Amino acid sequence: MKIETTIQGVRAALRQARKSGKSVAFVPTMGNLHDGHVELVSEARRRADFVVVSIFVNPTQFGVNEDFDAYPRTLDADASRLAEARCDLLFAPTASEMYPDGRTQSTTVQVGGITDVLCGASRPGHFTGVATVVSKLLNIVQPDMALFGEKDFQQLAVIRRLVSELCFPISIIGVATIRAEDGLALSSRNGFLDEGERAQAPLLYQTLTNLRDAIVNGERDYAMLTAAAKAHLAKCGFQPDYLEVRAQDLESAEADTRDLVILVAARLGSTRLIDNIHFSLS
Ligand code: PAF
Repeated sequence: MKIETTIQGVRAALRQARKSGKSVAFVPTMGNLHDGHVELVSEARRRADFVVVSIFVNPTQFGVNEDFDAYPRTLDADASRLAEARCDLLFAPTASEMYPDGRTQSTTVQVGGITDVLCGASRPGHFTGVATVVSKLLNIVQPDMALFGEKDFQQLAVIRRLVSELCFPISIIGVATIRAEDGLALSSRNGFLDEGERAQAPLLYQTLTNLRDAIVNGERDYAMLTAAAKAHLAKCGFQPDYLEVRAQDLESAEADTRDLVILVAARLGSTRLIDNIHFSLS
């Protein structure tokens, strides 16, 4: 596996791959890789001849009081995992390589509408940071396809929208969430949980599966269902941020909406966890 830290280096390495007719799949990450990331790389490996992964903890998608400084940086361990997963090229730029003029650049990518709700409402500016850095990364790598985890369901929707509306010639592939045996969605932020919080954390996914089962069994009063589930989470030590049933395009869910997603964000101690479950009613 080749490691490049500059945009120029990545472009040179990719020129080589493209000259030999290889298709290119790209997995953007912020590092501290877990089995969920490895699954993205394995799926990329199955779909393309040349696999590129980026590791960049993007400052512009963190709010002022968020965990940018604390976000785990484990580049050496990540590089070993990626080499094992048969990644061809790792792009690990510095902040100044990505943002030569500092973290505020004059051009940003703002996706309207779907970023006003859920994580967009509780993390102002977050999705502009994500959309901007993803656009830059896609322009640097120019892959045939890019893969993202479904755990960040809203992020995936934002990226699909931006790629479609800005006409990037790139297929966006969502990959199913990988979970621990007890159901907790794998996330780099799980490492922040202490032992007691880690034992409590699977309740988030249990809440989602219980809600899904109730809906599949005919319950349609989503406001009542989610209010009760939020109260239960709060009683069990979570600070729920949102818990919502929506259509899979993130519009409001009506009683006759068939393709649904339930999304949750909640703080456990100082750690903010998110998860979702999507399903279709027959
Ligand atoms: O999902 C992530 O790890 C990040 O939001 C991404 C897509 C790599 C952009 O920084």
